[in-house]
Amino acid sequence: MRYVSLFSGGGGLDLGFELAGWEPAVCLDHDPIACETLSFNRPKWNVVCGDIRDFDASPYAGVDAVVGGPPCQGFSSAGRGNPDDPRNFLWVEYMRIVREVKPRAIVLENVSALTHRKNDDHLSGIMSALSEMGYEFSMGVLNAAEFDVPQARKRLIVVGLMGGGASLPSPIVGLPPKTVWDAIGDLESWDDKPELNHVANKHAKHVVERWKKLGAGEEDPNYRRSRLNPNKPSVTIRAGGGYGPNGNHLAGFHPPIHPTLPRQLTVREAARIQTFPDSWILQGPKTIQGRQIGNAVPVKLAYAVGNHVKNLLEKSAH
Ligand SMILES: C[S@@+](CC[C@H](N)C(=O)[O-])C[C@H]1O[C@@H](n2cnc3c(N)ncnc32)[C@H](O)[C@@H]1O
Repeated sequence: MRYVSLFSGGGGLDLGFELAGWEPAVCLDHDPIACETLSFNRPKWNVVCGDIRDFDASPYAGVDAVVGGPPCQGFSSAGRGNPDDPRNFLWVEYMRIVREVKPRAIVLENVSALTHRKNDDHLSGIMSALSEMGYEFSMGVLNAAEFDVPQARKRLIVVGLMGGGASLPSPIVGLPPKTVWDAIGDLESWDDKPELNHVANKHAKHVVERWKKLGAGEEDPNYRRSRLNPNKPSVTIRAGGGYGPNGNHLAGFHPPIHPTLPRQLTVREAARIQTFPDSWILQGPKTIQGRQIGNAVPVKLAYAVGNHVKNLLEKSAH
């Protein structure tokens, strides 16, 4: 089955769909470094680097699905969440493309904050656009930790099917929750491996001294960052959203503090927590690598969604 991938970023959703047996007809993103990551790891994928507002989807008419997560900075409760942020309106472009492609299925992913009251207009716009086009949909907030991901990360997932029968994948039952240590314990003894996106940050001495004293799960109030508990799923890995000692917002990649070492996670450790395979190499400088990881749908959650939608389509074809 083939799909149009919109806002593909560093490829989390696409990797999960690939595992479920899907093939992208096209992957679109306007970030040249994200496009480089996709092409570097999957030279055969048709990666289009451009703005969705200029994207002509007519060559992909009739492809089985349109899949993607419109940017969420404006919706997000993690950022400043300005409801008038122009990026909030890119879902309109997503719907334009659905209209052009007329796929049998759509998958839309976003932060759970899209369901907050301040984002009502956007969510109801999304729902009425789908209904008007004849899609019945099922929507809900899924927690990645319930899909074999070592991270508590909640994401809104909308699955729409032309002609009805849409549903969401059910959490995996009977599996013990994956922990941070399951995911990254073996990397504790690694030296820097830039070729695998594993490069430890050199923090200032006073920061290292303070972080040495933090217990598992304990927060450094100066930076509003916690040391991960090795025996639990991780907190959400974010794309940005760090804080300085005066509560000032910091740009860049500010993942949680390593469970045993006095430093933040490396990009590779964060990628492991997002269930990316080590063979997937992020391109660009370290902060941009981290942004791609923080923005991604965990690969195993994407797999669960991709597999579920594939089964729904196969069932409806018979
Ligand atoms: C939340 S990320 C997607 C992450 C991806 N689904 C994954 O699982 O890795 C959103 C992406 O939208 C892209 N984007 C933002 N504005 C865009 C635009 N106007 N046209 C195309 N892509 C855009 C960003 O570069 C970013 O990579």
